[in-house]
Amino acid sequence: MSEPGAGDGVGRGGASHPGNPGNPGDLLELACRVAVAAGRLLIGRGGRPEVVATKSSPTDVVTEADRAAEALIRDLIGDVRPGDRILGEEGGETGSGSGVRWIVDPLDGTVNYLYGLADWAVSVAAEVDGTVVAGAVFVPRRDELYSAGLGGGAWLSSGALDWRGEDAAGPAKLACNADVPLDRALVATGFGYEAGRRLVQGEVVAGVLPRVRDIRRGGSAAVDLCSVASGSVDAYYERGVNLWDIAAGALIASEAGARVTGLHGRPAGPSMTMAAAPPLLAELHDLLASMDPERDG
Ligand code: IPD
Ligand code: CA
Ligand code: CA
Repeated sequence: MSEPGAGDGVGRGGASHPGNPGNPGDLLELACRVAVAAGRLLIGRGGRPEVVATKSSPTDVVTEADRAAEALIRDLIGDVRPGDRILGEEGGETGSGSGVRWIVDPLDGTVNYLYGLADWAVSVAAEVDGTVVAGAVFVPRRDELYSAGLGGGAWLSSGALDWRGEDAAGPAKLACNADVPLDRALVATGFGYEAGRRLVQGEVVAGVLPRVRDIRRGGSAAVDLCSVASGSVDAYYERGVNLWDIAAGALIASEAGARVTGLHGRPAGPSMTMAAAPPLLAELHDLLASMDPERDG
């Protein structure tokens, strides 16, 4: 499949091959399909969701919706590929064997979802032998499905939410903004849930703000990375994200031409994740590094 989401708008799923990674295109189609299914479930639930637990702080909440979406994703993946491992934010890692691991944030932007704001997403990535080869980020309130397969570019499909069998409009190929200098860059970032980390993040963003066009705090790391891919922002950085926040979005951003890294040549990850076109990333890296944003570790 060269254009994710083309034809049926949500992908067609893959065959059952326990223990066999199979075709990366099948993994991408399944990622798209389960992300859209979970997004439909989430957008269809009326009212304010019930908070059922908290995690790292009293404001780091888990709702019944997070759990229901992850349960659906696990069921759908398990039906098609019962041998694969699944790492989900709510259920941890399950399964063994198989070279394929699914990395799932069933609801990225839970606080936005809780407050009725639009920027929340379902993020589903497929990793084969440690490399993310497929990623899908579905943003139901915008009806936008972002997807990428390794080496196949990054794509945006609209209309997946209401797809009923007719041909959807073809997906659009994404390219991040190039040639934006730091002092003209619109930079997305996010903050963790713990007060001590936020104190440092606040100091760092105070140092970034006078050096850039402006800052955006959208509330979903997955959406932020897709916004880099689509050019809705020029750059993104955040300390403290987890693998499930970034696995799909990082592939989508990099397939759109962005570099996605950590500080000092390290890979993107919990310690720091930055994404932007290469020249801008270099400028952002040097600015952030000068402020030692990892000092709360
Ligand atoms: C959070 C969002 C947020 C980011 C936090 C994440 P959650 O994920 O991605 O934008 O700033 O670091 O934890 O808790 O809504 O799944
Ligand atoms: Ca998340
Ligand atoms: Ca989440």
